[in-house]
Amino acid sequence: MCGIVGYVGSRSASPILMNGLRALEYRGYDSAGIYISGAGAMKRAGQVSALADALPASFEGTCGIAHTRWATHGAPTEVNAHPHTDGEESVWLVHNGIIENYADIRAELVKDGATFKSDTDTEVLAALIAKKYTEDMLLEDAVAAALKEVRGTYGIAVASTREPEKIVAARLASPIMLGIGTDGYYVASDATPILKHTREVVYLDDREMAILTPDGYRVTTLSKEVLQKEVETLEWDIESAQKKGYEHFMLKEMMEIPDAIENTLRGRLVPASGEVNLGGLRDVLPRIKNAKRIVITACGSAFYAAQAGELLIEELTGIPVETVLASELRYRRNTMDPNDTILFAISQSGETLDTLEAIREAKRHGILVLGVVNVVGSSIARETDAGVYNHAGPEISVASTKAVISQMTVLALIAILMGRNNGLSLPDGERLVKEIARLPELARKVLEGHEKIQEIAKKYSDTTGAFYLGRKFQYPVAYEGAIKLKEISYIHAEAYGAGEMKHGPIALIEPAFLSVVLAPEDSMYEKSKSNMQEIRARGGRILAITTEGKEEDLKGLADDVLSVPKTGELFLPILTTIPLQLFAYYVALRRELPIDKPRNLAKSVTVE
Ligand code: AGP
Repeated sequence: MCGIVGYVGSRSASPILMNGLRALEYRGYDSAGIYISGAGAMKRAGQVSALADALPASFEGTCGIAHTRWATHGAPTEVNAHPHTDGEESVWLVHNGIIENYADIRAELVKDGATFKSDTDTEVLAALIAKKYTEDMLLEDAVAAALKEVRGTYGIAVASTREPEKIVAARLASPIMLGIGTDGYYVASDATPILKHTREVVYLDDREMAILTPDGYRVTTLSKEVLQKEVETLEWDIESAQKKGYEHFMLKEMMEIPDAIENTLRGRLVPASGEVNLGGLRDVLPRIKNAKRIVITACGSAFYAAQAGELLIEELTGIPVETVLASELRYRRNTMDPNDTILFAISQSGETLDTLEAIREAKRHGILVLGVVNVVGSSIARETDAGVYNHAGPEISVASTKAVISQMTVLALIAILMGRNNGLSLPDGERLVKEIARLPELARKVLEGHEKIQEIAKKYSDTTGAFYLGRKFQYPVAYEGAIKLKEISYIHAEAYGAGEMKHGPIALIEPAFLSVVLAPEDSMYEKSKSNMQEIRARGGRILAITTEGKEEDLKGLADDVLSVPKTGELFLPILTTIPLQLFAYYVALRRELPIDKPRNLAKSVTVE
């Protein structure tokens, strides 16, 4: 997510802000910018170092704001970088979050004569604040008035030329904290830019605002009610602050799964008509509606998310769907017909070379290629004809967790969108939209069980190997669970369609061998139980993943049982994947392995 840092006080702001941006680099970003009262603004696409190189020595002042941008609306360019300002360059704003109704606000401002340089929602918010900032208004009043018209999420810091020694900060869902220094006051999106200067911090809560000047700070509601906030003392060092106190980025990113699902769904559900709104596909909807065949391509965990999507799209549309590994598709004879086949490419990084080359080969045959990508402006995002961004936020750990869940969620949205164009009824659409909207809450419940998963992982961290078994919608989950265990604990794990056991794999079953069986209460439940009986009869150890209410039923069969909340069979994979990712993490933790950077692996495989 974007990074924010601001300072007002008696010291020179420029070095404080630039070092603050360097501390924020870990969050992942694609551009950076700075505004200093009295000196102006400077922005650069790319690295913070590029911005530092561009800053003139005279770029001085004692009040300023700065930002590292993780692009959500608009490509990662200098024009789209923050800070953003209004036409008169009176208000300067850095923002983390998504303004859902920015298009409507922009349209109204354009009617009043406003012009815009960028594609961002943030520039619209800056212009709205400036419009409210009439001569008789204080900056904080203008900010409050503007925020009352905003829908979406924000963590912001605002400066102005009219009140050059003031910063106004505000928060709704995107974290904002204040640093209380001896020589000034800080605002930031997390502790990392502040820790070097002070450990005394104040956390803003949703719909709260802070006004900072060299003489002090105060916190109010958007209705100017002054709030007494607790000043907390941070114990973290910089590194643990980057991980928000979690031991590894992987754990932090798993704990972010509910937010990642929420951001993936944000603004895309239409409950009243049981439909889905995916703006990135708007221009190609006619060709999507006419599709007679779908191919989905990806690598690694993205491929297993693709397999989950394959089953969902087939189930809701009746259209034949197949998944082909990108490293295979790019070399096979093309059988996709441009007149009726669509290729989806799934990639968190948007830079996986096999996936990119598969896209290029498909485009040589005139195939419409649509991307599901997390990194805005990445190569795959740019080379596909259209697509859907995950909005899952940056994923630092090599092992993909929240991004995989987000990929499954986007594919579920695509399945509903295509289903409603292929005969899926209004009541079914309404039901599915209602079910998918509950996933963040249900995912939070799954994560609450992480300590039990850690306990169970201790029992199996010495297993000689593992099977992961699933059927139908749980089949791809088995593969995702297996790759997670392999890549961070280095334990050999194989996934199978559970029905395959009797065709050979069952010969491996013995007491030292673990079988993880996906057995939620779905249409395959009884079959999955039979598989567990086969394994039990041969002395194999079983960890079962089921749904709440079935724990007792499986107790006699499995050595350990984990459960997830009930939901519709189609979306259960999004929940059952989470305990498997946590299980792999805690096994690797027990084995004291370098979890965020496993041996031999890279976060994005940009080589062949
Ligand atoms: C996932 O845990 C792995 N790190 C890896 O399989 C990854 O999913 C694969 O390399 C695809 O990456 P992408 O989504 O960035 O294209």
